[in-house]
Amino acid sequence: MIIAVDGPTASGKGTIARALAAHFHLPHLDTGLLYRAVGRQCALNHGNPDSAEDALDACDFPVSLLDDPDLRSETCGGLASRVSVHHAVRQALYDRQRAFALQPGGAVLDGRDIGTVIAPEAEVKLFVVASVTARAERRFKEMQQAGRAVSLAEIAADLEARDLRDRTRAEAPLVAAADAVLLDTSDMARDEAIAAAIRIAERTQR
Ligand code: C5P
Repeated sequence: MIIAVDGPTASGKGTIARALAAHFHLPHLDTGLLYRAVGRQCALNHGNPDSAEDALDACDFPVSLLDDPDLRSETCGGLASRVSVHHAVRQALYDRQRAFALQPGGAVLDGRDIGTVIAPEAEVKLFVVASVTARAERRFKEMQQAGRAVSLAEIAADLEARDLRDRTRAEAPLVAAADAVLLDTSDMARDEAIAAAIRIAERTQR
């Protein structure tokens, strides 16, 4: 069974995808991490993330970069969103994601275009959303716990800028697949959102 979990930043899709993977005993791929690694490598190369050529060069990042805790920062999120608009970058990362989705037994993948581009045949498709306020507050708490000094307003502005770029880009924009089930986690606690996702997956799995 392939489970596609898409949605905007801090909607809870990563938490939900990990929980679904544990529940159904499936391997999980956080595809945002791949784009974050490309963004980070581009910066390490002193490249320009808005240049398709520089961004493509950065797709050769070493696998060890995926373990870098810095990838989780807002800076890397912003860089990821910039490199991910380039067709060449999306192509370079496609095979790896597609192979992960097609492994025997299935998989859970979370990202922006899993249900639309990477695995349109996924048996279960979830599109996880939450209000900007709810998402900014969650991110703010995470940052505070990690000892990072950022303001709530700054986080909300970053989220909105990233959402706009992800939704309006020409290729693989952030959009729910026609057959995806919408899950709004704005007013849900973590465990409630996970339980709701498991119910949807059990109901929609063929
Ligand atoms: O999910 P996460 O916030 O880690 O993703 C970082 C950025 O990577 C997103 O804002 C988006 O621009 C890009 N991304 C993408 N396609 C995916 C996953 C992430 O374009 N499947």
